[in-house]
Formats: sequence, C-alpha cells, structure tokens
Amino acid sequence: MSEPTSIAYLNGTFLPLSEARVSILDRGFQFADGVYEVIPVYGGRPFRLDAHLARLERSLREIGMEPPMARDDLGEQVEELIARNGGQDCQAYIQVTRGEAPRNHPFPDAVHPTMVMTCTPVTPVPEAWTREGVSVITAEDIRWARCDIKSIALLPNVMMRQKAAEAGAFEALWVHQGRVMEGAASNVFAVFGGRAVTPSDGSRVLPGITRDVVLELAAEQDLPVASGEIAAADLPQAEEIWITSSTKEVLPVSRLDGQPVGAGRPGPLFRTVLDAYRARIRELRARAEEEQP
Ligand code: PDD
Repeated sequence: MSEPTSIAYLNGTFLPLSEARVSILDRGFQFADGVYEVIPVYGGRPFRLDAHLARLERSLREIGMEPPMARDDLGEQVEELIARNGGQDCQAYIQVTRGEAPRNHPFPDAVHPTMVMTCTPVTPVPEAWTREGVSVITAEDIRWARCDIKSIALLPNVMMRQKAAEAGAFEALWVHQGRVMEGAASNVFAVFGGRAVTPSDGSRVLPGITRDVVLELAAEQDLPVASGEIAAADLPQAEEIWITSSTKEVLPVSRLDGQPVGAGRPGPLFRTVLDAYRARIRELRARAEEEQP
C-alpha cells in the first residue's frame, strides 16, 4: 500500500501532509466518533462522487451530525485535492469526526467537526487476482448492529482482515445468524443456479457503491443478478463468489475456507460483470482525457 501523496486537506485548508495535525482530544481519536468515505479516482476523475458524498451525509446524519458543508462544495474540495495531488489514479479518503472536546461521552455542546481528506496513489488490481481469483475465509460477525453507517470504528474489521491475512486469505466474510452479510471491507455476491445474489440493504450491510454499480450494470445487460439472502450453509455450494469495493472493484473468489469455489476459477458471470465494470471505467477515463485543458 502506498503512502498518501503530499497534499492533505484539514478543516478548509490544503497543506503538506507532514504538517497536518489533529488534536489528541479529537473525538475521532478518543471514541472513533466519526465516519468516512473512500472514493476511487481514475485519471483524476472521482468515480460515483455524488453517491459517495450522499452516503457520507447519510452516515453523518445517522450519528447525529449535520454535514459540515453542502454536497457541491465538498465535491469541489475533493476535486481540488485530487488536482493538487497531480490528478492521477488514487483513492480519495474523507473522514469527518465530531471534533475536539474534553473527553466525555455525550455529544459536546459547542464543537466543530474535524474534516480531513487525503489522496493515496493506487496500483491497478493485479491481473492474477481477476484471472485466478482470491481466497476468503468466513467468520462470525462480531461487529455492532449498525454496519450501514460507514463508521471509523473498524477494530473488528481490522482484526478479521488480519486473521484472513494470517490464513493466507485476502478477505473475511461476515456471517450473522446463519446468513452471509458482507466482507470486512467489501460487499459479496454469490451465484446459485446461474443467478447472482447479494445481501439486501439492512443494518448489518454497508450499502456499497461498487455493489450498486454492479447491480446497475447487470440490470442494463439483463444479467440475472439481484439482492436477496445468502445462507452461510449454502455458500460452499456457490458456483461463483465475487467481492466488490471501491478499491478492489470486482474480484472473483476461488477459495472459500480453503475449499475451491465452483470449478476453482473465476466463473462466466463474473467475467461478464467485470468486463462491463471495466468498460464503465474506460468511459470515465475517456471523458477525463477529453476534458484535459
Ligand atoms: N470499504 N462493506 C464494508 C464493510 C466496507 O468497508 C466497504 C468498503 C464495502 C464496499 O463499499 P464500496 O463499494 O462503497 O467501497 C462494503 C472501503 C473501501 C475501505 O474501508 O477502505
């Protein structure tokens, strides 16, 4: 993973990353009292910016905060950050916390949100991952019951990704009451009888933006992909499993808990979906190039 590039944003100011400082009394640091977004950027153009900003606003409202600025203004700041960092392929990261205050659990009266943004360069998803698939493990869902909020409190996710890494796997899939919810940092799709299903929105699933793009592309092409339920007991019989995220796009899973998924290699529906997803990204890049001054 690369380091973020040199220019960060902190509460209205662009400054060198090395100079960006937040108080140790910030409630993000003290309580993980904040929310975040990760936005993929291709050729200097953020992908699905509006959807990410809308989800950020929703996360903020769900934790009792008002968005610190209007969506269009924040969008402009994101674009400005990307431009100041060279307008390359990157991940834009936005974090908003309730702000700095003496440590006391209830919301403080007079507090100003802390907003930070960074840009981290990305390398393309390795060809081997989409050609051969990645490994995942399953794990009991030990998170809180509001996983629809993109909270910065990620300790269960961090611990489970570490457990996956130690098992030689790329991702862990959460299982709650016998149903597969999502990955530690991704949404999940599974194919049964030629039809792909991804868990419906609910309090234990992040409404993933990449997942929504896949659902949209599938609808446009009349592919059998829909929201629904995935029973954990059925997962080993899935013909295909995919995971989606802003940073990893759509990845095929070829091993589940050490066993092959389907034929042990990416399936045909995955290939169709990935091709459609990549075509969408190519369009975005082409538009970015046309708009170059
Ligand atoms: N995570 N579910 C969880 C728990 C996630 O953390 C993420 C993304 C997703 C996929 O959402 P989207 O397609 O909107 O990126 C689902 C980001 C990438 C992260 O934490 O780095």
